[in-house]
Amino acid sequence: MADVAGLGGLGERRDGAVRVDHGRISWVGARADAPLAGATVIDGDGAWLTPGLIDCHTHIVHAGNRSDEFEARLHGASYADIAHAGGGIMATVRATRAASVAQLLASSAPRVLRLLAEGVTTLEVKSGYGLTLASERTMLLAARALGRHLPVDIVTTFLGAHALPAEFSGRADAYIDHLIKVMLPALAAEGLVDAVDAFCETIGFTAAQTARLFTAARALKLPVKLHAEQLSDQGGAVLVARYQGLSADHLEHLTMDGVAALAQAGTVAVLLPGAWYFLREQLAPPIAALRAAGVPMALATDCNPGTSPLTSLLLAMNMACTLWRLTPAEALRGCTMQAARALGRQADIGSIEVGKRADFALWRIERPADLCYAMGANPCTGVVNAGVLRPPVVSWRD
Ligand code: NIG
Ligand code: FE
Repeated sequence: MADVAGLGGLGERRDGAVRVDHGRISWVGARADAPLAGATVIDGDGAWLTPGLIDCHTHIVHAGNRSDEFEARLHGASYADIAHAGGGIMATVRATRAASVAQLLASSAPRVLRLLAEGVTTLEVKSGYGLTLASERTMLLAARALGRHLPVDIVTTFLGAHALPAEFSGRADAYIDHLIKVMLPALAAEGLVDAVDAFCETIGFTAAQTARLFTAARALKLPVKLHAEQLSDQGGAVLVARYQGLSADHLEHLTMDGVAALAQAGTVAVLLPGAWYFLREQLAPPIAALRAAGVPMALATDCNPGTSPLTSLLLAMNMACTLWRLTPAEALRGCTMQAARALGRQADIGSIEVGKRADFALWRIERPADLCYAMGANPCTGVVNAGVLRPPVVSWRD
């Protein structure tokens, strides 16, 4: 049928074939041996087949845009200066609180469509620009609605601990109590929360506050993940590893203690080169140490209006290779099997193996490294969601 990349490790198979029954992979092997009885044959025509791409860290549901802050930073303001002046995350909170589910759906869909055109089949979406029960719910409902309107599987993360809302100014501990007692239980009971995240940072929440939230999440049987060591070292990676977290994300300021903790817990390091590039950060995550310690490394866009207005996972792969020296195989695994693991979905998606969901992307390329190599190109020629083939470009009507 096609050339297949992504079997287990990055096993590659020329002239391979995959059989799908009821949306799941039932057989993988050489084309010559393919069990064809009762099958509709789709000829890949020499294209490469990979697992569907997984964007495992986004803030893609939000209202408004922060190109004014982009401009201010070009005139010398820093991300932290802007946050202290009431801009940054709070600027997006103001815009998002004013939006309905339908408005958030309409503003997010074009961004999601750009990801889908590049072979994305699973997308994580965080809340965190509402910071009230009603508004966080609106964001999570919009995220779930994306999955009903578009051919993509949505995984939601509750990020109520993203910033301190004005109503709780000077009372961060009281806000964490409110998240624990009111918001998280209510949203979890509504089935809107697949995991819990926090922004553990000098301009976010302390490690102690994050730990209290994580304890509450685990009591509700929800997995945790963390924005850790993005702008400073707060011991976030060690903390999230202690809670058997799915992932620690960003990690530019990660120390060797943190690397060891992630390795020991099997927590995935989610690397976000778009934010690093956009903020012109200087300190890179310790890739060589993560690699040496055997920490699984995933890659994501971090699509958000403040630090990473990025809607191309292929460009994130190129950035990870060019800026941080990931190999193309690591980058592709980072957007497939390791991203699946960062979402706790590794048994279901992320590689082309019997039993997994038949989510694939087809590419007109010579070899898998082409996905990382070409900047701004989109060689995706088809996408398969649970066994259903579609063209990469999907239309959207309000
Ligand atoms: O992943 N660091 C915190 N959250 C986002 C930024 C959000 C924003 O600036 O709106 C991030 O970089
Ligand atoms: Fe983020």
